[in-house]
Amino acid sequence: MIKLGVIGFGSRISSIVKAVVAHDPEFHVTGVVDPDERSARKRLPEADRDEVKFYPSLASLVKRGRPDALLIGTRCDLHARYAIAAAKTGLPLFLEKPIATTLRQARGIERAWRDAKSEVVVSFPLRVSHLCEEAKQRIDAGAVGRVEHLLATNYVSYGNVYFDRWYRDYQITGGLFLQKATHDFDYLSYLAGSPIIRVAAMMTQGRIHQDKTLEPSGGNPDVAYYPEIGTPITGMNEDSSSALLEFATGAKGVYTQVFYTRGKAEQRGATLSGLHGTLQFDWYDNNLRVVPHAIDTVPESYQPPEGFEHFGGDAVLAANFSDVVLGKARSRTPIKAGLKSVYACLAARKSAQTGRFVNVEQVTDL
Ligand SMILES: NC(=O)c1ccc[n+]([C@@H]2O[C@H](COP(=O)([O-])OP(=O)(O)OC[C@H]3O[C@@H](n4cnc5c(N)ncnc54)[C@H](O)[C@@H]3O)[C@@H](O)[C@H]2O)c1
Repeated sequence: MIKLGVIGFGSRISSIVKAVVAHDPEFHVTGVVDPDERSARKRLPEADRDEVKFYPSLASLVKRGRPDALLIGTRCDLHARYAIAAAKTGLPLFLEKPIATTLRQARGIERAWRDAKSEVVVSFPLRVSHLCEEAKQRIDAGAVGRVEHLLATNYVSYGNVYFDRWYRDYQITGGLFLQKATHDFDYLSYLAGSPIIRVAAMMTQGRIHQDKTLEPSGGNPDVAYYPEIGTPITGMNEDSSSALLEFATGAKGVYTQVFYTRGKAEQRGATLSGLHGTLQFDWYDNNLRVVPHAIDTVPESYQPPEGFEHFGGDAVLAANFSDVVLGKARSRTPIKAGLKSVYACLAARKSAQTGRFVNVEQVTDL
């Protein structure tokens, strides 16, 4: 039996645990840290539900429960604190994104994991999804030549989640670059084979999503009213936000995320181009296309298998975590990837707030 210790047994980590157990039934949750024991216990796999012990802290979970691996699934603002504590345990870790919400937290993680003896699997399902992997293989094989430009879009069809659930609390999320673009900056950097080094960003807040408590009559048809979502002054999630990206290779990119689109208007994917070709993919269309620029060449179209959580990424993450715990593989989404993405997101937020280009802090210690 492989014993899992989980910190924050909420909705997201319960689906990851399910995928880990589906991959290898030898994995069992045996210890949990979560102040809401009642709700957490209901989410536990049935086989473990009555046996699992709850602990008041990560230290006591590790000392008394002796797990073989840890998973951190709290809300965003607590990831870094627990990840720093987990570094000292020497145990493999599955860590939810965004792995930090402030520069101070991110630097703390970088210091803590510098000499750590174990590996982290950061929860970036898009990077390991079928479509992204197929794109990566083609790009590395030279399908477009040297990548010069990346264009990525994210028209979110379920953006209400960021205004009517706990995500509306800006103090917890730190805004939607950290919450959402952390995935996109990660996969773009992965495909470009290069970190993002400079960002210029803009955002719109409070034009569409407005605080209902401040406007109880709610009369404007172009406005969506939600309770207690803050204001641009107190801090609030964006209606939309965009960033110009410069990569260390010299490639340039642009990314846009929009949170009021609904239904079939959804889009998430990228177009990468170089002198020799253009590669496009979209997760909702579940399609990848490579168009060579040479005259008379036939474009390639590819459709990966459909119908998986996060476009197949969650199952791959769970399998990779299981392999890391058993010492059979290296992490495909290491702590460095989580940090690089957080530094880029923080630069984007700062740029949007100040109207200036912002250099992205680079990971040096790992
Ligand atoms: N990688 C992805 O694709 C993806 C998808 C969805 C959510 N997420 C991320 O997962 C995280 C959790 O989201 P969720 O929807 O599961 O939230 P949730 O509220 O369902 O889960 C959070 C859990 O943490 C517990 N908790 C609260 N305070 C705690 C503390 N001090 N110590 C330990 N546990 C504590 C809560 O009781 C709850 O059980 C978020 O950061 C979110 O951004 C990632």
